[in-house]
Amino acid sequence: MCRNYSDCERNQKKKWKGFQSNYTWAAGFIIVLLVLITLCVCITVLTKRKTNPPDDIEFEVPSYNFSFLTRAQWNARPPIETTRLSTPVPYVVIHHSYQPPACNNTNQCILAMRSMQNYHMDVQRWWDIGYNFAIGGNEAYEGRGWNNLGAHALHFNSVSIGICLIGDWSFSLPTAEDLLIAQQLIDAGVALGYVSPDYKLIGHRQVRETECPGNALFKEIQNWAHYSPFPSTHEDLLQVKELSKSVKEVLRKKAMKVNETDSVQNAQDIQKH
Ligand SMILES: *[C@@H]1O[C@H](CO)[C@@H](O)[C@H](O)[C@H]1NC(C)=O
Ligand SMILES: *[C@@H]1O[C@H](CO)[C@@H](O)[C@H](O)[C@H]1NC(C)=O
Ligand SMILES: [Zn+2]
Repeated sequence: MCRNYSDCERNQKKKWKGFQSNYTWAAGFIIVLLVLITLCVCITVLTKRKTNPPDDIEFEVPSYNFSFLTRAQWNARPPIETTRLSTPVPYVVIHHSYQPPACNNTNQCILAMRSMQNYHMDVQRWWDIGYNFAIGGNEAYEGRGWNNLGAHALHFNSVSIGICLIGDWSFSLPTAEDLLIAQQLIDAGVALGYVSPDYKLIGHRQVRETECPGNALFKEIQNWAHYSPFPSTHEDLLQVKELSKSVKEVLRKKAMKVNETDSVQNAQDIQKH
């Protein structure tokens, strides 16, 4: 009840304001609800995409024509760190392990993989097993894989995938099956876009003073498609057009240092793997 007109007006205004504020609250509530629903839908769609990527090759486990063991399957230790490898790489480098010796079945080869990884991480102090892949016992093993920079060929890792044929291949060859797997693995790398279609295949000794990949295996790979006689020794590295300026700077500094010290030290550096 209003005593006079201005009281009535005041009451009316109060009511109107109350109605207005209720209305604002309701509108605000609906907007918040809509935002929440949108967020939920977005999160659901995004997580679904993440766990089930439709066309992201990185999450795809490629199907190879040969038996392939992933890191989980050979019980690899996690890497300390990884660096992304820029792909497709122009080179593939073939290695032998020298030690451990050839493995002939899955159990032996898993032990070989683990011992190489332990040696590389605990003695060499690298982040992980050095090779991108290894092959033994007629099966292929995932090392650092296609996407991670390897530690297998000094000054050459950034432009290559390193594949190790487990064993000492100075006087004898791996099985025909293992040699075929190495070539099929490279072909798969080309098909998946990680290796350049016009890649060059070389032995480790062509970029470092080493006996790797052993005389017998080195002779063998010279018959493979894509074998390149260049670079022929580490002294050709400065002429490799794909190597970055910063790598070449390191090489130049090193060359100057080696000239200052005696060559005996250099000869002792010759390694076998
Ligand atoms: C892989 O195997 C499939 C079927 O077993 C065959 O069609 C294909 O040609 C093989 N590819 C290579 C590169 O050997
Ligand atoms: C695998 O077989 C080769 C040839 O028979 C043999 O020399 C080598 O010792 C075997 N490796 C292992 C780890 O037993
Ligand atoms: Zn090597």
